[in-house]
Amino acid sequence: MINVIRTKDYEEASDKAFEVMKEYLRPGKVLGLATGSTPLGLYARMVKDHQENGTSYKEIRSFNLDEYVGLPITHPESYYAFMHHNLFDHIDIPEENTHVPSGLGEDLEAQARHYDEMIDACPVDIQLLGIGSDGHIAFNEPGTPFDSGTHVTDLAESTIRDNCRFFDNDITKVPTQAVTQGIGTIMKAKAILLIATGSNKAKAVKEMLEGPIDVSCPASILQKHENVTVIIDEDAAALLG
Ligand code: F6R
Repeated sequence: MINVIRTKDYEEASDKAFEVMKEYLRPGKVLGLATGSTPLGLYARMVKDHQENGTSYKEIRSFNLDEYVGLPITHPESYYAFMHHNLFDHIDIPEENTHVPSGLGEDLEAQARHYDEMIDACPVDIQLLGIGSDGHIAFNEPGTPFDSGTHVTDLAESTIRDNCRFFDNDITKVPTQAVTQGIGTIMKAKAILLIATGSNKAKAVKEMLEGPIDVSCPASILQKHENVTVIIDEDAAALLG
């Protein structure tokens, strides 16, 4: 079941997302985390709450959705660096409790299978998601099978264009592949929290919520999950019936 929360703008969406997330900021919980522009407001609120209220992450574990293939963790645009810069370095989560898939290694598919095994052993309580303008979740682009596990994938051209802004607006610098949790992996999370803001997400939001469940819109599979909260702002909701 999808519970849709409509908000005015990005700031209010981030406030609502924090309200949902706050319930999970307790010892023993396992958070599924995302990168990109969408969760920045939520992460800022988690950092503020840690600093002002002392909410502790010492006994919380986390699994990130994805990582670019070929970027070392020292690259400022690696998702490992993103998570440290925007969240992990400002809260008290132990490094060994955090997991970001590696985009480097001899056998990325074997590493991907190992990542799924770790998640199976430590099920995610709440998975945070953004959505791509093409309806992708994590880097599961249109056409990805709904039962996929963590795998290496080619990024869609629209995704490469969308992410150009993080790579000096130079398309040749954007990695073309990623390691991503599969849709099957994401669907195992006990609860899902998806945030979508801005008009470039409106079409994907409409297909996710009102379209058929079809691999052409990967996020449409969320209609089948039993506990999903979708937080959208006015711009992202603009095409809803
Ligand atoms: C990031 C991720 C992606 C983004 C999506 C939206 O870990 O998995 O699916 O959530 O591309 O990106 P932003 O938030 O930058 O619009």
